Amino acid sequence: MSLHSSSSSSSSSLTRSPLFHPDGPTRPAGLLGPTTYLLELTGCRYPWADALYRKMRDFYWKPDDVNLVADHAQFDRLAPIERSAFLNTLGFLIYLDSIQIQNPAWLSQYIAAPEVAACLITQAFFETIHAQSYDHLLSSIVDGPTREATYQLWRQHPLLVARNAELVQPYERFHRDPTLEHFATLCFSDVLLEGVYFWSGFTIFLTLALRNQMTGTAQLIRQIRRDEQQHLAIYDQMIRTLRHEQPALFTEKLVAEWGTLARTAADHEIAWMTAITEGQFPGLPLSHVRRYIAWITNIRVRPFGIPDPFPDATQDPMPWLERMGDMNPGKADFFEQAVVNYQDDLDFGTI
Ligand SMILES: [Fe+2]
Ligand SMILES: [Fe+2]
Repeated sequence: MSLHSSSSSSSSSLTRSPLFHPDGPTRPAGLLGPTTYLLELTGCRYPWADALYRKMRDFYWKPDDVNLVADHAQFDRLAPIERSAFLNTLGFLIYLDSIQIQNPAWLSQYIAAPEVAACLITQAFFETIHAQSYDHLLSSIVDGPTREATYQLWRQHPLLVARNAELVQPYERFHRDPTLEHFATLCFSDVLLEGVYFWSGFTIFLTLALRNQMTGTAQLIRQIRRDEQQHLAIYDQMIRTLRHEQPALFTEKLVAEWGTLARTAADHEIAWMTAITEGQFPGLPLSHVRRYIAWITNIRVRPFGIPDPFPDATQDPMPWLERMGDMNPGKADFFEQAVVNYQDDLDFGTI
C-alpha cells in the first residue's frame, strides 16, 4: 500500500499504512503519513493528545445516574412552545450525536499518531453516551409515540431534512475523496458542529434551567457540554498541528472557504432556532438568539485566522447561560485555554 509523505499536496489522496508494518517509523513524523499504529503513550509524538485522551477518559459518566422523575412531571406543565422547542432541539441533536459516533472513527483511520487516533475513538465512545442520554431523557419524560416522532424529526421536519443533507456534505466529500484539504475542512466542519450547533441547542435547556425547570435535563446537558468541549479541543489541536506541518495547505482560498462555511452554518442555525422558538420562548428573544449564535461562531473561527463572520457580534448576549452550563463555574475550559495559547504561540497572519 502506498504511503504519502508528510508534505503531501492538498489534492493528493491520504492513504493508510498496512496493519503489519514492521518498516514503519518508531514515532510518526506527523499527524498524517506512515505509521505502525503502535500506541505507546509515554514519549508519544503529541503530548497534547495523551493529556486530552486521559482527560476525556476521566470524565466517564452514566446517563442513567441522572434522575428525571421531576422532569417527567414538569414537562407536561411547560408552555406549548417550550415543549415543542425542547423536542425539536432534541431531534436535531440526536442526529448530530449519532453521526458523530461514526465520523471520528472514520477520520482516525488516516491518522498516523495513535495517541490522536485514541482521542478520536474515545470521542466516538462518548458520543454513544450522549445518544444514550437522549434515549434516557425521552423515555423518561414523554410517551412512546412522542419519543418515536422525535427520533424521526431529523428526516421528517422540512427544515431539518434540508439542513442535515447540506451539513453532511464535507463529511461525504471526504469519504468519497480523502484528500488532505478535505480532511482539514472536515476537521473545521467538526468545530462548527460541536461548537456552534450544540452550543446553540444547549440554550433551550439552560434557559429552562435558569427558571428551575427541567433541572435533571440540564444536568445531562452540562455533562454532554463538558464532553463537547474536549471534542472541540481535539479538532482545534488537529488543525493547529496541520498548520505547522502542512503550511502550504492554508491558502487564502481555503480560509475564505472556511469563512463561508462558518457563515452558512450560523445562518442555518439562526433560521432553525428562529423557527422553533418563534420569538415566544421565555428568556430567548429572537434578538438574543441571533446575537448568541453570531457571537459563538466568531469565537469558534478566530483561532484559525478567519475574520469574524459577524463583526457586530462582539459580546455574549447571555453570559449567564455559560455559567448555567458549566460543570465547574469559574474554570476556563480546555478549548478556551487552547485558543489563548494558540494565539500566543502561533502566527495566524499567514493562514
Ligand atoms: Fe456529543
Ligand atoms: Fe461531540
